[in-house]
Amino acid sequence: MKLEDLATAAAREAGQLLAKMQDSINPREKAPKDLVTEADVASQKRILEIISENRPDDFFLGEEDLTSEVDLPGLDQTVDSTVDLADLEYCWVIDPLDGTANYVHKLQTYSVSIALLNYGEPIVAAVYDPVLNDCYSATRGEGARVNGLPMQHSGVDELQRSLIAASFSAGVERGSPEVDRWVEMLYECQALRRLGSAALNLCYVAQGGLDGYWATSVKIWDIAAGVLIVREAGGTITSIDGGPLKIDEAKFIAAATEKLHKQMFDVLNRV
Ligand code: IPD
Ligand code: CA
Ligand code: CA
Repeated sequence: MKLEDLATAAAREAGQLLAKMQDSINPREKAPKDLVTEADVASQKRILEIISENRPDDFFLGEEDLTSEVDLPGLDQTVDSTVDLADLEYCWVIDPLDGTANYVHKLQTYSVSIALLNYGEPIVAAVYDPVLNDCYSATRGEGARVNGLPMQHSGVDELQRSLIAASFSAGVERGSPEVDRWVEMLYECQALRRLGSAALNLCYVAQGGLDGYWATSVKIWDIAAGVLIVREAGGTITSIDGGPLKIDEAKFIAAATEKLHKQMFDVLNRV
């Protein structure tokens, strides 16, 4: 099976499981304001089963800790965030439910995000939105698609005409640079959003629903798939300081065009 097809099949199946489970999820806080549910765990288990059946030698890095599970296929190939992904030939990076806070509150903006990394660089990606039944996917060098059809970013290159999104960490503090960047951008763009799924934000930049998106506190599993989808759709994405993006640091600016990216960079680096 083509790797992109495997990634999309796993994302779709896990996403449909999330949609089915939404009324029986038992939310709890794993850290203050940082929610997890039984559905996050069930989704990650299903993804592991599907992918490891096809790719038994690949590694897995998922957001949720499944080490207490027994007899779970793929568990022996699971690594944690301390591992250097650049040392692994193939590692699947999984966010089984991106947008858990939305999901718990039944705000229907959430997704499943799956990326395959080759020595630390994303080569295959799938992000699935089970509510709209939209599956975004990409393979390095082969473009990005939504539901199998090519995608196009907005082409917008003026910040004053741009719809921009940002992500905050779960426990953002008063007076933090995250808040200051938000305020600066609010003055400069046409409209600013915090939608609650980092993976979907990146897909929206690739598809044209958003013109730009930045984040400084997300994790590798939030963005590994979306970064490849933005790149393959022809968008621009760099680290927040303008250098090449380090995917495991996950502080970045993504934009439809280079010109817009430069304007976002100037505003965000006032802080
Ligand atoms: C969160 C979402 C959100 C971002 C948070 C992430 P989760 O992921 O991507 O947009 O602001 O930083 O933690 O916890 O719902 O998987
Ligand atoms: Ca996430
Ligand atoms: Ca998650």
